Amino acid sequence: MPNHSDSDHNRPIRSYVIRSGRLTDAQRKAIDSYWTQYVIEFNNHAIDPVSIFAVPQKLTVEIGFGMGDSLLEMAQSNPDVNFLGIEVHQPGVGKLLNGIAENQLTNLKIICHDASEVLQFGLPAHCIDRLLLFFPDPWHKKRHNKRRLVQPEFIDRLLKKMRPQAKIHFATDWQAYAEHMMEVLEANPELENVNGAGAFWLQPNRPVTKFERRGQRLGHGVWDLLFRTKGEN
Ligand SMILES: C[S@@+](CC[C@H](N)C(=O)[O-])C[C@H]1O[C@@H](n2cnc3c(N)ncnc32)[C@H](O)[C@@H]1O
Repeated sequence: MPNHSDSDHNRPIRSYVIRSGRLTDAQRKAIDSYWTQYVIEFNNHAIDPVSIFAVPQKLTVEIGFGMGDSLLEMAQSNPDVNFLGIEVHQPGVGKLLNGIAENQLTNLKIICHDASEVLQFGLPAHCIDRLLLFFPDPWHKKRHNKRRLVQPEFIDRLLKKMRPQAKIHFATDWQAYAEHMMEVLEANPELENVNGAGAFWLQPNRPVTKFERRGQRLGHGVWDLLFRTKGEN
């Protein structure tokens, strides 16, 4: 019989496993050189999402940006929007830091920490205009489904940080997860489906992501969902 200590039972269920992938020299150098300039330290207190940027403007948050290529592309082509990327995978953080520095972007910052905790403690109420979650780990096996980020509690937590009339854009290449996302979002009375009840977003306006490209090579489908928070803006 497995011997579970109390701490096993108390440990939060994480939506990720820190992969042991080594940092390249360039990623390590970027982390050493640019961390203090572009990474906002998570310390259990709400950051001020206005003062961390050069210009106060609408805020888009991307959870789990992976290697950050598509986030960098969005920040470059939308200088009138501030972007905050949340990711736990250090090689991705290193790669994105290089991209931010090379392009001298002032509208893109990073938090390197579990997004569930950042949402709970690291952001003030009603500060997000757009939330992006592209290809979150699908956790295919039934016994792992509880690790999926998109759950009713996660949406409740998220909604406390969203402004009225804010957008939530999810994408996945795993049909069962897409259906689960749809069910969870449609069940929340504070949200409406921009594309009509039960409908996926067929022509999403986002860059193709690295993970998506891998799925395309394997012949996977893609499902996008776009929801809007209710209330007066
Ligand atoms: C399957 S990858 C997709 C990456 C990227 N969005 C793309 O499409 O290329 C999922 C990413 O989410 C990150 N992730 C998972 N759970 C997270 C969490 N709770 N907080 C922050 N990042 C998380 C993982 O580290 C991983 O890089």
